[in-house]
Order: sequence, then structure tokens, then C-alpha cells
Amino acid sequence: MNKFFSLKFAEDNLTFIEQTALPLSEQYITTDNYERIAEAIEKLEIRGAPAIGIAAAFGIALSFKNHNGKDDEYFYNVSNRLRRTRPTAVNLFWALQQMEETYKNLSSNDNIYSRLKEKAIAIHNEDIKKCDLIAKNGISIFERNSRVVTHCNTGKLATGGGGTALNVIKHAFHKGLIEHVFVDETRPLLQGARLTTFELAKESIPFYLITDSTAAFLMQQNKIDVAITGADRIATNGDSANKIGTYNLAVICKYHKIPFYIAAPTTTIDFNAKSGKDIPIEERDKTEINRIKDIKVTKSVYPVYNPSFDIIPNELITGIITEDKLYNFPYNFNV
Ligand code: MRU
Repeated sequence: MNKFFSLKFAEDNLTFIEQTALPLSEQYITTDNYERIAEAIEKLEIRGAPAIGIAAAFGIALSFKNHNGKDDEYFYNVSNRLRRTRPTAVNLFWALQQMEETYKNLSSNDNIYSRLKEKAIAIHNEDIKKCDLIAKNGISIFERNSRVVTHCNTGKLATGGGGTALNVIKHAFHKGLIEHVFVDETRPLLQGARLTTFELAKESIPFYLITDSTAAFLMQQNKIDVAITGADRIATNGDSANKIGTYNLAVICKYHKIPFYIAAPTTTIDFNAKSGKDIPIEERDKTEINRIKDIKVTKSVYPVYNPSFDIIPNELITGIITEDKLYNFPYNFNV
């Protein structure tokens, strides 16, 4: 199958590609059950900041498919269930807030499911447009034959549209600006090794998969020109949370005088977070580190620390690309 999608809403069901099975197996799951959507977000079957927001919006809408009339207690139970799935990506909370505002403005005579469904579809469509604009606004960071490094997965799988950082890379490649991409494997869940490679291969974009610790060596040998990643939450001063290991990448870029960019929709900006200190960091299960899939790599009794994200301080970020424009350091997203 050459074409794939991360999320599709059709015939009153949400269909999503099961990302934990990729790239070895392309399976789609179709559901109209919000609890199944919540589980999918928790297990990273649906992942990536914009994608989890969109999926949660559809989860809210679908919870009213067979539930007639306004029912505040039910609405907030569903919303809180989805809210508890993952703590770092602010897009989830943004989307839930949008759905809540829509719900509050409905009267008991309205068709609740139809209105919520329209809103979720609008959130999805908006994200598709934002991905395209991000790609357009980011193209100027490349010169001809750029060799670029990226971390985690920020493409179609992570969003409702073409992606954020990976969409910038894809557009630049099709304009002849990219020689090849270095893909960090992204320990422990291997979003780079499993998902970014999958997307690049689908588009015949040349890449090398590297371990997370290889990028510094490549930089020392002048083999990397630019780095670009996504974000899960951006504070108003530009401090950004992204997949664990992104901070390392930004630090080594600074040392080697290589520009480091972040690409994200404005729905990733948390206007209530003044700095990275205000961003909650998800800690995930020890089995993600002491095992690879079902294979034990160490003794299960050994203590493990597994933060899923880190914070990139604003001074390490050369530019932040949104659907509005490319912002340069220093950042102030309050205005
Ligand atoms: O734990 P994940 O796979 O959901 O983490 C995803 C990332 O860190 C992405 O870089 C981020 O969400 C941006 S996706 C466009």
C-alpha cells in the first residue's frame, strides 16, 4: 500500500493507522467508541501532538453518536477521560477546550452529535491547512543540497495533514533543496526508526537511519547542515517540549554552530506557560526501556527513569516555524 493516512473520519466512525505496528504491518482500526480512542492515545497507537488533539475531538463527538440530548455530566466524564490520556502535548487540551466551547453553546434542541462532529471535522481540516502553511514558511531554512537531521516523527502520522517538521523537509526535498535526511532512531519507542523512515521511504526521499548518539559525530565531520524537529508544547518565551533527546540535539547543534529549528502549529503554543518550567513532562512505563517490544534487555527489577519529553531552552532554537511565519529568537508569543 503506497498511500496511507493517520486519521480518517467517515460514515460516523474514526479510522486510524495503528502506529505501534508500523512499519512492519499497516493495519487500520475503525471505531466509534471514545474509550477505544482514549486507549489508542495512551498506547501511542495514535500519537504526535496535533494527531492526538484531532483524535480526542472525534472522541468527544462520537461519544454523542448514540447519546441523545445535552448531558453535562456525561460530556465532562468523556472529556476528562480523554484529558487524562497524555499530559505534555497541549494540542490535546486545546482541542478538548474547543469541543467544550462548542458544546456549551448548544441548546437542548440542537442535534448535539451533528454539531460536535462538524466541529471535530473543522479542527481536522484546519490542521491540514496549517501543515501546508508550515511547509511553505519553513522552506527558507534550507540551501541547495542540505543535509538535515530530525528527531522523532512529525509527518503525516503525527498530524491531521502532511506534518510539521517532516512536511517542511518533504516540501524542501521536492524543490530540490535536500540531499538526504539523517533520522534519529528516537529511543525508546523508535518513532524515528519505525515511523519517519516509513514516511520518507513512501516518498522516495533519501535518508540514513542513525542512533540518537550518532548526530554529534556527523556534525563534527561537517555532514549535517541543519536540524529541524516538532514540538509538543511551546511556552510563550519559546522554550519548547519535544520528544526526549531533542534537547541533546539542540545542544550539539549550538556547539557545532548548526541552526536548530522547531516547526509546529500555533495550537502547540501554550499561552498559559511562561517558560519551560510550566510544561508538564510525561513519565512513561519502565517496560518501554527495559524491553524492546517483548524482549527483555535487562533485569525487570532494575529501576528505570523514563521521561518521554525534554525541554529545549529558547536560546538554543534558531527559529520557530508556525502556520503564520518563521519566528526568530528571541520569542514572545504573548503578542
Ligand atoms: O510520544 P509521541 O510520539 O507522541 O511524541 C511526539 C513528538 O514528540 C513529536 O515531535 C511532536 O508531537 C510533534 S508532532 C508534529
